[in-house]
Amino acid sequence: MCGIVGYIGSKRAQDILLSGLKRLEYRGYDSAGICILEDQDIKVIKSKGNLDVLVTKVDQQTIGTQGIGHTRWATHGKPSDENSHPHMSTNGKFCLVHNGIIENYNELKADLKEKGFIFLSETDSEVVANLFEALDDGNLLTTARKVTAQLEGSYALCVLNKENTDEFLVVRKDSPLVVGVGEGENFIASDIPAILEYTKKIYILDDDEMALIKRDAVEIYDKSGDRITKKLREITWTLESAEKQGYEHFMLKEINEQPEAIRKTLAGRIKNDMVDLGLNMEEEYVKAINKIAIVACGTANYAGRVAAHLIEDKLRIPVLVSYASEFRYNNPIIDEKTLTIVISQSGETADTLAGLREAKSRGAKIVAVTNVVESSVAREADYVIYTHAGPEIAVASTKAYSTQIAALYLLLMELGQIRGSLEDETIKLWVKEMLAIPEKIQTILGNCELFKGFAENIKDSSSLFFIGRGVDSVSCLEGALKLKEISYIHAEAYPAGELKHGTLALITDNVPVIAVATNGLMLDKIISNIEEVKTRGAITYGVAFEDEQKIKEEVDYFIPIPRVVDAIAPLLAVVPLQLLAYYTSVVKGNDVDKPRNLAKSVTVE
Ligand code: AGP
Repeated sequence: MCGIVGYIGSKRAQDILLSGLKRLEYRGYDSAGICILEDQDIKVIKSKGNLDVLVTKVDQQTIGTQGIGHTRWATHGKPSDENSHPHMSTNGKFCLVHNGIIENYNELKADLKEKGFIFLSETDSEVVANLFEALDDGNLLTTARKVTAQLEGSYALCVLNKENTDEFLVVRKDSPLVVGVGEGENFIASDIPAILEYTKKIYILDDDEMALIKRDAVEIYDKSGDRITKKLREITWTLESAEKQGYEHFMLKEINEQPEAIRKTLAGRIKNDMVDLGLNMEEEYVKAINKIAIVACGTANYAGRVAAHLIEDKLRIPVLVSYASEFRYNNPIIDEKTLTIVISQSGETADTLAGLREAKSRGAKIVAVTNVVESSVAREADYVIYTHAGPEIAVASTKAYSTQIAALYLLLMELGQIRGSLEDETIKLWVKEMLAIPEKIQTILGNCELFKGFAENIKDSSSLFFIGRGVDSVSCLEGALKLKEISYIHAEAYPAGELKHGTLALITDNVPVIAVATNGLMLDKIISNIEEVKTRGAITYGVAFEDEQKIKEEVDYFIPIPRVVDAIAPLLAVVPLQLLAYYTSVVKGNDVDKPRNLAKSVTVE
C-alpha cells in the first residue's frame, strides 16, 4: 500500500508533504516523491530509496504552497527513480500520485502509445496521468469522470493540473483517502496519521467519490457528478493509534485487512472465470512437470503445505514440502522436471533464498510467491506471483499467509488448466468460491468477541493441542505457531489420527484441545478423535462450518465458519486461530506486534 499526502494553503507545501510522508513510513515503501506547483510550473522531485534520500534532493528555495507527495510500495515495476511517483502526463500539464492497482493498464497503455503518448516508467499509474491529458476537456472534474470510467481496478488518485493554481482533485475507489480540513488550507492523505498534526477535522471519502480541494473549500461529488455533503469527523485518536487505523495492534489491523488483501491478490488474475497469472509458462514444460518441491519457512511453509494437499489430490503431481532450513542439506531429489515453489512474505529469508539457489543449481525452474516486489527471491526466481497484502508489520504473519494460499490456489488452478487435469467446472466453482472468501472472512471477523472469551479460558494453560485430519492438520500447524509465538504458551499441532500413538498420554483434565474439522470426508473420524480426548478430560473447541451440527454437539466450544468447498476451507479455518492467538497474547499482556526473541524477517541462517 502506498502513502499519499496533498496540501493546498499558504504554508510551504514541501514541508507539509515531507512530514506527512514521514508519518506514513510504517506502511513500508521502497521509493518516494513530491511535486510542488509554483508559478504555474510543476516541480517533481522523486527517487528510489527512503525519505532521507528524497529530502537531500528537495530544493529549499521552492516556496510553492500547493503540492502532492507519495511513498511507493511497488506492485507494477521495480523500485526505481523512474517508477517512483508523482507521474506527469506527456504534455507536462497533469501530475498525479496513485495508490492501488489498475488492472487494465496494459490495454490503456497500448492505446495511448498508439496515439503518441510517451511513457517513462513501467507503472500502471503513469497510464492514468496520460489518460488525463488524452481526455482533458479543460475541467478537472469532468475530465476525471471520463478517466475513471475507463479504469478497472483500485485507485486513490490525487491529480494536479498546473494551470489550476487554486485547486487539485482526488478520487477514491477501493484505496483509502481522507480529506483534512484546516483554516485557509486543506489536506488529503491515504491515512490519517499523515495530517493529524495539522487538523483533526476529517472527511473520509467513500468509493467512487471525488473531491476538489481548494484553499478555502472542499467540494465533494458522488459518482454521478452531483455535489454532496458528508459528515465532518473529529478525530480523537493519538498519532500512534492512528498508524494502526484505530486498531490496538498492527496484528489485529492486518488480520482485519485480509478480506481486502485477498481481493487485491485475486484482482486481475481471473478472466472469464478462468485463472490467468500471466506467468507465460511454456505449455510443454508444464505438461512435463513430474514433481513439485515447495520450500519455505514458518507460516509460509504451512501455506505451502496447504497447497501441497490440493496439488497431490487434484493434479496428481507428487509434492515434496521442505522446511527451507533443512532442504539444502537433505540432498533433495530435484531436477529440470521439478517445479520448485519458494514462498516468502519478505522475500529475504536466508534459508528460503538458499533453498531457491539449491533447487536452481539442480536444474529446477523456480516460482516465487512473495509480498515484496523485486525482493531477493523475486529477482532470482524464473516466475513471480506477488501477493498484494501490503506491508505486514506485525512479526506474526497473518494476511501474508492467507494471500499466499490464495496465490498458490491460483497457481495450481492454472497448472491444472494447462495440464488438463482440472475440469473447467471445478475451476469455475473454486474461482466463484474464492471470490466469496473476503466476505466470509468478514463474517468471522465480526464474531471476534467469542475469542476474547476463549482467550480468558486458555491464558493460563501450560500446553494446548490442535488436531485435524488431512489439510485441517496444516491449519493446526499454523494455529499452533501463531499461539506459541505471541502468547508464549506451548502448543502442538497433531494429525488427529496419530494421537493414540503416544501423544494422547498428555491429554488430561482441562487440557484445551482445538479441533479443526472442515474435512467433510473425515468428519466421523475427527468426531471420534474429539471423543477420545474428551473422555480423558480435555476441554474441546471445534472450528467447523456453521451448519456442522455433529461437531457443534460434540465440542465444549463451537467456533463456526461460513461454509465453502472443503478444498479452500483453509482460507477461512485459519482466521479463528489467528484471533485466538491474538486475544490470548493481549490478555497475557505480551508485546503482540514484537514478540520476544523473534524478527519479522530472518535474514540470517
Ligand atoms: C510467522 O508468523 C513467523 N513470523 C515466521 O514463521 C515467518 O513466517 C517465517 O520466518 C518466514 O518469513 P518469510 O515469509 O518472510 O520468508
